[in-house]
Amino acid sequence: MVKIAILGFGTVGSGVAEVLTENGGLIDRRVDDLVRLKYILDVRDFPDSPYRDCFVKDFSVIEQDPEVDIVVETIGGATVALDFTTRALKAGKSVVTSNKELVATHGYELLKLAREHGCSYLFEASVGGGIPILRPLTSCLAANQLEEITGILNGTTNYILTRMIRAGLTFEQALQEAQEKGYAEKDPTADVDGHDACRKICILSALSFGRQIYPEQVPTQGIRGVALEDVAYAGSADYKIKLLGRAIRRPEGKVCAFVAPHLVPGDNPLAGVEDVFNAIAVRGNAIGDVMFYGRGAGKLPTASAVVADVIDIAKDLKRDHRNDWEEGAPDLVVSPDVLTSQWYVRAEATAEQARAACGEIHLLARSGAPAGEVAFLTGPMTEPQLRKRLEGLEVRSLFRVLA
Ligand code: HSE
Repeated sequence: MVKIAILGFGTVGSGVAEVLTENGGLIDRRVDDLVRLKYILDVRDFPDSPYRDCFVKDFSVIEQDPEVDIVVETIGGATVALDFTTRALKAGKSVVTSNKELVATHGYELLKLAREHGCSYLFEASVGGGIPILRPLTSCLAANQLEEITGILNGTTNYILTRMIRAGLTFEQALQEAQEKGYAEKDPTADVDGHDACRKICILSALSFGRQIYPEQVPTQGIRGVALEDVAYAGSADYKIKLLGRAIRRPEGKVCAFVAPHLVPGDNPLAGVEDVFNAIAVRGNAIGDVMFYGRGAGKLPTASAVVADVIDIAKDLKRDHRNDWEEGAPDLVVSPDVLTSQWYVRAEATAEQARAACGEIHLLARSGAPAGEVAFLTGPMTEPQLRKRLEGLEVRSLFRVLA
């Protein structure tokens, strides 16, 4: 029998309990053993829960119980979760998590700890919710040198941008709607300012390129600066504005990783990814382009990925299930300033001033544009080159165009 403990009975933790129970028969058959929930750790009381007999408040009960094989950490954050994960791994218990903050900030040391104690640390649910992406990266695509990853990695911001594009809502109106629907938190900072997408691109980069990349190494811009005017100008030329997490392998072996709103051409599959859906496009030197699409958040989709990791470990507790990457380094990550691309610019200027500054440009139009406003697409150049050319112009918005 394989015994499980869940840490945190919130949305994901309760989803994991539900999937383990509802799909218990097929999980047992797939593991070829009995997989049973033994403990749920939470500071709150749940007297009416069907799992009420499983609840404990003291982590050491789980830590010291030799029957517990796998700990599912769905507490979130990088404080209590770090302490409990460290202690579980040291006790030789494998840990499965959906906690992207913890993996992005402490992945290397926790993977090392798992290796030292002969257990596993798996986190499929930390990126893309229910979308299978981490295991395909490290197994199905293992024959490739991975070159580039481009993802819509945050469902909340994708929902907000979709509502701005489709319904003409302002950022504030769309954010309020996302909060009413339960997608955005009361404090939406982690989503709208890009931190959540940043953590996810760090995890994808580490798995793809083999070294830890820390969130503070990744320039991150959220969507607060995207205005309805930009959505309209972009739409006039068949572009959609999307928040992208990108990681590009550089020829010298370094990695360029960043998060920023982009104009995505209408014929790029990422342009059609709407609402709370996520998609991750991966480029490998043998496979070319491949894309993963699905529900990037939510109770049961996320639980689906967590329980898949549990099943993987439970099938053979002794096998090496580890993801792995090496320690990061301050000079591993290079600035996106090195990347040449087309740019979208909206400025308080005339078309003549824009042309004089940027040379050959493609002017964009929108109905109701005030006199003295200009929006255009530039030719290919780096951001420092562009900023130098724009000196003296009153720039309102500036976004990279995805090639
Ligand atoms: N807040 C995240 C999102 C949840 O909106 O995508 C899943 O990580």
